Amino acid sequence: MRTRPLKVALLGCGVVGSEVARIMTTHADDLAARIGAPVELAGVAVRRPDRVREGIDPALVTTDATALVKRGDIDVVVEVIGGIEPARTLITTAFEHGASVVSANKALLAQDGAALHAAAGQHGKDLYYEAAVAGAIPLIRPLRESLAGDKVNRVLGIVNGTTNFILDKMDSTGAGYQEALDEATALGYAEADPTADVEGFDAAAKAAILAGIAFHTRVRLDDVYREGMTEVTAADFRSAKEMGCTIKLLAICERSADGASVTARVHPAMIPLTHPLASVRGAYNAVFVESDAAGQLMFYGPGAGGSPTASAVLGDLVAVCRNRLNGTTGPGESAYADLTVSPMGDVVTRYHISLDVADKPGVLAQVATVFAEHGVSIDTVRQQGKDGEASLVVVTHRASDASLSGTVEALRKLDTVRGVASIMRVEGE
Ligand SMILES: NC(=O)c1ccc[n+]([C@@H]2O[C@H](COP(=O)([O-])OP(=O)(O)OC[C@H]3O[C@@H](n4cnc5c(N)ncnc54)[C@H](OP(=O)(O)O)[C@@H]3O)[C@@H](O)[C@H]2O)c1
Repeated sequence: MRTRPLKVALLGCGVVGSEVARIMTTHADDLAARIGAPVELAGVAVRRPDRVREGIDPALVTTDATALVKRGDIDVVVEVIGGIEPARTLITTAFEHGASVVSANKALLAQDGAALHAAAGQHGKDLYYEAAVAGAIPLIRPLRESLAGDKVNRVLGIVNGTTNFILDKMDSTGAGYQEALDEATALGYAEADPTADVEGFDAAAKAAILAGIAFHTRVRLDDVYREGMTEVTAADFRSAKEMGCTIKLLAICERSADGASVTARVHPAMIPLTHPLASVRGAYNAVFVESDAAGQLMFYGPGAGGSPTASAVLGDLVAVCRNRLNGTTGPGESAYADLTVSPMGDVVTRYHISLDVADKPGVLAQVATVFAEHGVSIDTVRQQGKDGEASLVVVTHRASDASLSGTVEALRKLDTVRGVASIMRVEGE
């Protein structure tokens, strides 16, 4: 074993970074044996240097992250600051000064992954980011390496623990969205400002990363259709139950039937209770992958939290250190397939539509005609009357999102349709 240590600069020492530092210290001997050289924490960049940080030598702490990555003797930079800047500049500076990079930064990778990969490639360095999607769950490496000989057709995932906790609460207790969110906040599962989670921004970033790797095609954050889950109601859950379904916020990356294009989207959807993703409870994450040769694979585990996320960071650190010792690098970006990334209108799926209508003869026929005119075939209809008003629940066969949007627009114009109470996609069948 080499005695000269590999030097690691830790950028950020918060929820994830503090656990990375702890595991590097407590597992130092095992890590050295697995890598073939000891790993030394050479510096820790933070914003507030005076904070007490258990287990961290205060002499290592600095507020000058730029100087740390420019030192020239750093082998690996671990970026766990988050956000776009200064993380982006620090990572590119690290490459320029000879270091490889491990990051957990989904926002940055989703926005600038291609440029960062190019910078890593230009300098012959590694860029690893297993922790950026679904925390501890091994997903990036299985997609990038274990499935490199297969053809992935679909990635369907619960990749945000906060939203899964809220939806699971609504499902199991009958609570409304706000009540479930309040509980998630009180228990520390939701941040004070939950927008990134409940509006699907966090999941959309992960969908862009997953789709890019799964389909060997650049998928930008802007390519991902996004709908949050704040409009999901207790009534939607009752409807879902009647269909033998539950509701999850899903990230869905799909290859089209002809294989020529892909789509990536995040939205709440009904899935059958028999689907493996339906049983993912609480704040857990799970990703269901369908490929030509392997068939169906399910990856499940804690998608966030300091220690689980640090596990993924440490796995990358070991891989990058091994590469470093061998004078090699791991796989970089693979975007050779360069498939067309299609808009949401091209997505084909089933829909559950709940309408408030006048309770009078002929309404059902009128509504059915609108569906037929837009080429959307109806699977089932359920009608319930109350005081001259009625609710109509229509479940369709597979249709394009564009056809469904056209249908809904036309339905809204009917005098007999008082309102469209909810539209939900039905997935996983
Ligand atoms: N938390 C999770 O469960 C989780 C899961 C998966 C991925 N991630 C990703 O991991 C990354 C870190 O998340 P986190 O939850 O650990 O965040 P965090 O607790 O807010 O920690 C951020 C750290 O960065 C430091 N920092 C902020 N601005 C800085 C700057 N300009 N220069 C140097 N240091 C700076 C902060 O310093 P101070 O300590 O002085 O404030 C803090 O130590 C993010 O990209 C996040 O998306 C997190």
